[in-house]
Amino acid sequence: MFTLAHLSDVHLGPLPAGAASRHFALKRALGVMNWRLSRHRQHSPAVAQAIAADITRAAPDHVALTGDIVNVAARAEFVAAARWMQAFGPPDWISFVPGNHDCYVRMAWQHGLIHLEPYMQGDMRVPLTQETPQIATPFPYVRLRRNVALIGLATGVPQPLHRASGQLGRTQLTSLASLLSDLRERGYARVVMIHHPPLPGLASPRKALLDAPQLREVLEAHGAELVLHGHNHEHMLNTLNSRFGTVHVLGVPSASVAVGDHHPLAAWNLYRIQRQSGKWLIDVSIRSYDPASHQVAPLTEFALSS
Ligand SMILES: [Fe+2]
Ligand SMILES: [Fe+2]
Repeated sequence: MFTLAHLSDVHLGPLPAGAASRHFALKRALGVMNWRLSRHRQHSPAVAQAIAADITRAAPDHVALTGDIVNVAARAEFVAAARWMQAFGPPDWISFVPGNHDCYVRMAWQHGLIHLEPYMQGDMRVPLTQETPQIATPFPYVRLRRNVALIGLATGVPQPLHRASGQLGRTQLTSLASLLSDLRERGYARVVMIHHPPLPGLASPRKALLDAPQLREVLEAHGAELVLHGHNHEHMLNTLNSRFGTVHVLGVPSASVAVGDHHPLAAWNLYRIQRQSGKWLIDVSIRSYDPASHQVAPLTEFALSS
């Protein structure tokens, strides 16, 4: 039995002083305004802390954090995010993939995501990888943990104003196809971590993964046991039929939502993955923040059909 925790969209606050004015970018300035007008009321650092503490108490074998750890990609936000991650747990226990908010505007790697690099490093050689100015570390990356392979994908690419789309690109798609095939043959449960919902139609066009149709083709052709995503800030469960069985696609709410007016309250998923009679069995437990008690409590449990 392998236990995996999944959280996403921490949107860590508060915004550092000068986030809008230092290293000015219009998109970031509008993002700061949006944060001050409304988002700061939704996303509470105390709730994010409660979710992280609840995961620590559950002591899973591994943790997947599927992006949007910051808000407007201000330099000081990444320093704070790295500090938060270090308090949460060691890099070999937490795997991070970047989201659109982590690549909110064009900025150099050494001022931003480099602070989270230890959480994005694979331990298996991947022949075909991509690096970008924002994410100058190889993607996809693979971490092997017992009989589970965690595959990290990067979809964060700076977008024009009012867009929150993402893109994998041909290199990551081609590499993913061969990784899924190779890791299936080697008997691993394949867990894909991606910020944007991976299938067409799961997000509005303004927020969607631009190459979701191509990713669906890769998943249909090669299969995967789990695809974990964030971005929509909703509980989501979708399935896809592949040549090698059902692909389960799960999304979690933002890990810092303190008031459930627009989106579900903060939550995280625990997956119990085991192999029985040649099949992968996966149970899911969802735990959610309760504003009345300020505790994180069980919400629901179910098994994924194989
Ligand atoms: Fe988000
Ligand atoms: Fe997002």
